[in-house]
Amino acid sequence: MKKKLAIFASGTGSNAVNLYSFFKNSLIIDIAIICTNNKYSGIVEKVEGLGIPLCVFSKEDLKNGKVLNVLKKNDVDWIVLAGFLLKIPESYIVDFPQKIINIHPSLLPKFGGKGMYGKHVHKAVIDSGDKESGISIHYVNKNYDEGNIIFQKSCQINEKESVLSLSIKIQKMEHLYFPKIIQKLVLENLSL
Ligand code: GRF
Repeated sequence: MKKKLAIFASGTGSNAVNLYSFFKNSLIIDIAIICTNNKYSGIVEKVEGLGIPLCVFSKEDLKNGKVLNVLKKNDVDWIVLAGFLLKIPESYIVDFPQKIINIHPSLLPKFGGKGMYGKHVHKAVIDSGDKESGISIHYVNKNYDEGNIIFQKSCQINEKESVLSLSIKIQKMEHLYFPKIIQKLVLENLSL
């Protein structure tokens, strides 16, 4: 039996589509559903062509458990946040213990927390004068970007680095490592 993943995204969804492409012929992982709180996000259009169920929901639906019921109905095993901007309610964390993971475009614990997403992160990193940034993949707990780290990979920041050049560099790393780390985690936890 394949393990079923739900991907949550609020933005352009490049990671979500990359995960779909990586796992579409997988023998162990099935992208069962893509979930978004933003009906105007790029992901909605992209998913329509893929033939995967799409769940569009409101902040209220997330809080009142409607989305949780959809996940249960679809027998979801893992929840993957790929650019999802709302806070995951505690009931989800209780029902999916150590099964909700997020990717963040900095070396956490630096440059994480509420409001730290997308270009805001890269700008803060560059403004700080740090010489490196990177990606973090971590478990989700009740606080933004504070769950235990599963994987990090760093990259250098050049003298002339811009928000755009850093975001391109980080996105390449995300697309390369996120599917591999998810696959490794799922394989390590097949019996759970
Ligand atoms: C990524 O940088 C990810 O680290 C962060 O949100 C961004 C999503 O990008 N959590 P995309 O929508 O997948 O292109």
